[in-house]
Amino acid sequence: MNLDRLKKEKNAVILAHNYQLPEIQDVADYLGDSLALAQSASKTDTDVIVVCGVDFMAETALILSPDKVVVLPDLAATCPMAAMATPEKLKRMKNEHPNARVVSYVNTTAEIKALSDVCCTSANAVNVVKSLPEKEIIFVPDMNLGKYVQRFTSQKIILWPGYCYVHRDIKKEQIIKLKKMHQDAEILVHPECSPEVIDTADFVYSTGGMVEHAKKSNSKEFIIGTEEGLCYRLKKENPDKKFYSTNSVCSEMKKITFEKLVHSLETLKPRINLPDKIIEDAREPIEKMMKIGKR
Ligand code: 13P
Ligand code: SF4
Repeated sequence: MNLDRLKKEKNAVILAHNYQLPEIQDVADYLGDSLALAQSASKTDTDVIVVCGVDFMAETALILSPDKVVVLPDLAATCPMAAMATPEKLKRMKNEHPNARVVSYVNTTAEIKALSDVCCTSANAVNVVKSLPEKEIIFVPDMNLGKYVQRFTSQKIILWPGYCYVHRDIKKEQIIKLKKMHQDAEILVHPECSPEVIDTADFVYSTGGMVEHAKKSNSKEFIIGTEEGLCYRLKKENPDKKFYSTNSVCSEMKKITFEKLVHSLETLKPRINLPDKIIEDAREPIEKMMKIGKR
């Protein structure tokens, strides 16, 4: 099967997250972090967007490009953290804190985005929160990212008890052990990691931030505290540098295989659909976030 021919025939673009399997990363038109994927989805002029990632990424693409056909090669690829925030509980929290604004991580369902004032990704969470004049911020759903943001602002961050199991399972001891083995390595970790792990790091970045940093850093070795898929990209783009992974795996991200991608392109299924009202209400918080950009 000639993937390029199929893509042309369907007028499709392939967006892939940095945690995708190597076979997917190699054929992606755009490879990036959550913010970069949302930006690509809003700019593409193709009829079809194939999102190789998890459910909330495909939903975000549809919200930004509602006239396009958006497909996710396996509908079972769902982010467990996104499922931790429910509309009922968020409505309750909003009632309990009437002066607070709601900042939702893009790792949320479209329904949660529709109830939010503004979205953020790990690339811009600090700036998004700081852009708001309100003194109280309800931050949904990643507690670790919320705690990380709290380090940079005097606004009160009201946390939601959500977490990413992949980053929660990265332990400080693991990072310290890797550092003992590779003493010259810089430590880069994701802000979804626990505060103890963040405290061991030289730099805290989204996956896209890690890609940029590794390229421009004078260091030749890096300890990477995030999902292991990113190390494939880092090694490919920096063949003269070494990357040591915590070997953390997101099984949801790995559900997208090359065979499923081809099947999706051939059939334009499984397709992502959302109610018009949700699309309408969720678009503004995402667009506000994109205006704030990266930092
Ligand atoms: P970023 O690639 O935006 O840093 O997100 C990490 C993540 O966990 C996505 O599911
Ligand atoms: Fe969700 Fe974590 Fe997997 Fe990202 S890495 S999709 S946040 S479970």
